[in-house]
Amino acid sequence: MGSQSYSQVLFLCLTVLIGLTQAQLQQGFYAKSCPKAEKIIQDFVDEHIRNAPSLAAALIRMHFHDCFVRGCDASVLLNSTSNQAERDAPPNLTLRGFSFIDSIKSLVEAECPGVVSCADIIALAARDSIVVTQKITHIYIYMLVSTITDMGLQGGPYWNVPTGRRDGTISNLVEARSSIPSPFHNLTTLQTLFANQGLDLKDLVLLSGAHTIGISHCTSFSNRLYNFTGKGDQDPDLDSEYAANLKSFKCKNINDNTTHVEMDPGSRKTFDLSYYRFVLKRRGLFQSDAALLTNSVTKSTIINLVYGSVENFFAEFGKSMEKMGQIKVKTGTQGEIRKHCALVNS
Ligand code: HEM
Ligand SMILES: *[C@@H]1O[C@H](CO)[C@@H](O)[C@H](O)[C@H]1NC(C)=O
Ligand SMILES: *[C@@H]1O[C@H](CO)[C@@H](O)[C@H](O)[C@H]1NC(C)=O
Ligand SMILES: *[C@@H]1O[C@H](CO)[C@@H](O)[C@H](O)[C@H]1NC(C)=O
Ligand SMILES: *[C@@H]1O[C@H](CO)[C@@H](O)[C@H](O)[C@H]1NC(C)=O
Ligand SMILES: *[C@@H]1O[C@H](CO)[C@@H](O)[C@H](O)[C@H]1NC(C)=O
Repeated sequence: MGSQSYSQVLFLCLTVLIGLTQAQLQQGFYAKSCPKAEKIIQDFVDEHIRNAPSLAAALIRMHFHDCFVRGCDASVLLNSTSNQAERDAPPNLTLRGFSFIDSIKSLVEAECPGVVSCADIIALAARDSIVVTQKITHIYIYMLVSTITDMGLQGGPYWNVPTGRRDGTISNLVEARSSIPSPFHNLTTLQTLFANQGLDLKDLVLLSGAHTIGISHCTSFSNRLYNFTGKGDQDPDLDSEYAANLKSFKCKNINDNTTHVEMDPGSRKTFDLSYYRFVLKRRGLFQSDAALLTNSVTKSTIINLVYGSVENFFAEFGKSMEKMGQIKVKTGTQGEIRKHCALVNS
């Protein structure tokens, strides 16, 4: 056998082996073991996100943070024990979502004890909460502008959430610090952190699009307004008019840590393309948003999104979310199904 065909056979064997050991999620994993699970989650989200729409942002962000540390395994929900857990890593605004997930978990446990993982609950609740968010705004717009007939009430991003994730048993603050991107990171670092998760530059741009909803603390960007290089200066990559506005109305000094600032002013409750329009106008709130203009691939991805249709954005965003939801998932006999999402089973 020639060395070329030898390596081809080896390659084939390896592919088969990887295929066998690679985690496989499947659509409707609980169809037999807990047929009502997905409906219970969806109904709970539907009912509660209407009253607290800002939770949708917290939930999708929680899903992101979970997936970037040890894979999507609900490690983000574990309480600190002898070691400090991920949920104690800064910034932990996502904490708002913890009791929400706990409530869903108890409903699902009452239906089928020990069957549905906390990791799947996060993934499903994140998707469902974005769907509800978009329904609310669309119904609202629909009532205002009833002549717009082509506006579907269901419009918005949607993605499949195949299930079967199992929960991890380890959560570590140090790992969270080193794996989760920071708002101060440049493009190179962001690219590396995403590549570590099997995500490319296009995913980076698309997933950053989640900043079309939600809020931030001043401390995540106030260095750009007040002390960018330690000389009391401003970030030259931030539009100066916008910076002045933020200083007057949002973050009055560098230590202001209380104000909640939207990343997509004017439409922070709507999933749309306006976040990307702000980024193009050098009004991205974080250095990490602004960094997306410093690379030709990410910049042209943004331009294509902005000049394309919103439906195209939703479809592309959905694909990246589905990819993110599969990062290093535990399946089969790996991990466990936690009884309580904050605690490893004893
Ligand atoms: C590219 C790297 C990213 C960085 C550096 C980053 C950074 C941040 C920061 C600093 C905040 C504000 C936190 C605060 O000050 O309270 C934030 C908020 C948020 N992020 Fe990101 N993020 C990134 C990617 C993502 C991804 C991939 C998603 C989801 C798919 C996401 C979704 C959100 C949402 C929804 C909020 C608002 C949360 C809320 O309103 O409670 N981000 N992000
Ligand atoms: C986890 O920690 C939170 C905050 O410290 C606490 O309120 C909660 O009771 C803990 N959960 C469990 C199950 O111990
Ligand atoms: C959030 O993280 C900080 C550390 O950055 C920690 O001191 C704080 O207790 C955490 N918040 C909650 C409510 O657990
Ligand atoms: C990006 O940040 C890293 C870490 O801070 C630094 O080593 C690198 O030189 C920076 N890259 C660019 C292109 O500025
Ligand atoms: C700006 O940063 C420099 C260097 O870190 C520091 O010495 C200075 O006190 C800071 N100025 C303000 C106003 O925070
Ligand atoms: C936030 O600001 C308040 C005062 O406005 C201060 O007491 C608190 O320690 C600050 N927290 C952080 C994390 O800097």
